[in-house]
Amino acid sequence: MARKVDLLLLILFLVWCCNTSSSTSPEAEILIKFKSSLSHNPALDNWNVSINICDDDPKTTGFWTGVTCKDGTLFGLRLENMSLSGFINISVLVNLPSLRSLSFMNNSFHGSMPPVRELGALRALYLAYNKFSGTISDDAFQDMRSLKTLRLEENEFRGGIPGSLSSLPALVELSLEGNRFEGNIPDFIPRDWKLFDLSNNKLEGSIPPGLANIDPIAFAVSPIGNNDLCGRPLSRCKSPKKWYILIGVTVGIVFLAIAVISHRYRRRKALLLAAEEAHNKVGMAKAQSQEQTEENAKLQFVRADRPIFDLEELLTAPAEVLGGGSFGSSYKALLSNGPPVVVKRLRPMRCVGFEEFHEHMKKLGSISHPNLFPPLAFYYRNEDKLLISEFIGNGNLADHLHGHAQRTPGNIGLDWPTRLRIIKGVGRGLVHLHRALPSLSLPHGHLKSSNILLNSNYEPLLTDFGLDPLVCQDQGHQFMAAYKSPEYIRHRRISRKTDVWSLGILILELLTGKFPANYLRQGGGAANGDLAAWVRSAVREEWTAEVFDGDMMKGTKNEDGEMVRLLRIGMNCSEEEEDQRWGLKEAVEKIEELKETENSTEDEFYSSYGSEVEVKSVGRE
Ligand SMILES: *[C@@H]1O[C@H](CO)[C@@H](O)[C@H](O)[C@H]1NC(C)=O
Ligand SMILES: *[C@@H]1O[C@H](CO)[C@@H](O)[C@H](O)[C@H]1NC(C)=O
Ligand SMILES: *[C@@H]1O[C@H](CO)[C@@H](O)[C@H](O)[C@H]1NC(C)=O
Ligand SMILES: *[C@@H]1O[C@H](CO)[C@@H](O)[C@H](O)[C@H]1NC(C)=O
Repeated sequence: MARKVDLLLLILFLVWCCNTSSSTSPEAEILIKFKSSLSHNPALDNWNVSINICDDDPKTTGFWTGVTCKDGTLFGLRLENMSLSGFINISVLVNLPSLRSLSFMNNSFHGSMPPVRELGALRALYLAYNKFSGTISDDAFQDMRSLKTLRLEENEFRGGIPGSLSSLPALVELSLEGNRFEGNIPDFIPRDWKLFDLSNNKLEGSIPPGLANIDPIAFAVSPIGNNDLCGRPLSRCKSPKKWYILIGVTVGIVFLAIAVISHRYRRRKALLLAAEEAHNKVGMAKAQSQEQTEENAKLQFVRADRPIFDLEELLTAPAEVLGGGSFGSSYKALLSNGPPVVVKRLRPMRCVGFEEFHEHMKKLGSISHPNLFPPLAFYYRNEDKLLISEFIGNGNLADHLHGHAQRTPGNIGLDWPTRLRIIKGVGRGLVHLHRALPSLSLPHGHLKSSNILLNSNYEPLLTDFGLDPLVCQDQGHQFMAAYKSPEYIRHRRISRKTDVWSLGILILELLTGKFPANYLRQGGGAANGDLAAWVRSAVREEWTAEVFDGDMMKGTKNEDGEMVRLLRIGMNCSEEEEDQRWGLKEAVEKIEELKETENSTEDEFYSSYGSEVEVKSVGRE
């Protein structure tokens, strides 16, 4: 009998035990089911039903990549930067009642907007940087009363902006930037926006009054020049009646009068407003900071010798995208009365106050040298910093070296005399920059072939220099050329010799025609691997002539010796160890000595490289 009872207990125990140990949390099952409709990604291999989703044990947390918890409960999914595609099965996620935040940013999802409305309690939805397309139905966000953040930027959505967004009570961050939304902007109920960006779309019509006080950049196309939107904060709408109503509602009769006068007396208006602002500055601290913002929201010209245009002109000018640089995208704006200008949107510069920014820009604008190309003006406002420069039509050195430039029949690439002239100009510009900015540890900081413009005579013009003090220290600067240097990768240190390293890499790129892989890497990795190491190994294996770019060798006779000398300079400049690396002065002096033609042998190179490094490495800036 006792045995029987024991057996019964055992069975009961087994049922109890195995139920618990094998019963995985329902949430885990749901997530696994959700994952099954996504494309396979190794990053999610650690999603494992045997492991608790929200485990406080530090040894096991982090096993569910991308799953976030709050107070031991599932809170969000953050599946970013994973090249995911497939189907986002919302009907599966509906079974996760505690889900509040959903991010699929920067993946490869395509197709139409998922029916997120079914997740009525969602607070944040990030679908930015994917390939979603199609129109979004007007009621797509109906009743999402908790939705605070909606980020759909950089997709391919088209059609109207869904009207259901305009009345969501909690929404304070909205970015639809970089899609193809068209038509009128719905009238959003006024609120304190933390983020509002509709730029780079195809919107039209008058901007609703509730948005009259938004930063105009939020409506710009690319990001400047939106011809089809009008009304505050952009230029007034063409129809006088609309304009009257709009201005009447938003600014009032007094401002209308000023605006009418200003139509004839533009300059006087500017003076009046400036005087008024100056007068108002005596007000309370709060009012003062408001004024400050208004003041900042203007184009600031940093060079005295250039024609002045205003922000409105810039914002309404037709524009075309030039490309996405590392600081941000750049655009060409065709001003109605003046030469075209280039506008760069500087993304990683959110940490510097207006005064500091202004001072520094004025300093850069005051630098004058035939090989330096400082900006004309800038626009500063919270999230957005625009840098405006003249447009140079002949492209940049990288385009010419790596074949993106248009090859006209007569244009067979850069020959040796041109390359020599370019590197001499770069050297001169760099020396001047180091003299003009004595207090900066990185006078240039971002020297690379795509930041060297070529004018119609193939004279180099250095751009994007001196920006290091404006970039956010914690995350902003990894993309800059200087921060790919061996000293930064190894010791998190930069110095004035770091610019010399960039010059060295540039010389090697110029001679070999190879793109330096150093600049593709996102920090980390083997220091100085890549181009410099490749050249070194190639030279060691004694096939020097073959490191040179074929385009450069065309039609040359006796210039090898000079090319080899420049190669040696490039190698001494890209030395990994800073104390072995040449100083700028010495490097540029050596470059200046080079000639277009001269007899010389490669033997000289082999005998001198290595031994000379030690002798000449004393050069210090
Ligand atoms: C899940 O985790 C358990 C326990 O750690 C392990 O034995 C099992 O192999 C894992 N399963 C998968 C599919 O990784
Ligand atoms: C995805 O990449 C962006 C940009 O590199 C970064 O800011 C973000 O933190 C990344 N997201 C995750 C979850 O790692
Ligand atoms: C997207 O993800 C890639 C890595 O997968 C990363 O290098 C890139 O910076 C990310 N872009 C954005 C805009 O977050
Ligand atoms: C999405 O999930 C639901 C519920 O589990 C299922 O019925 C449906 O087939 C799934 N859809 C796709 C396309 O996988």
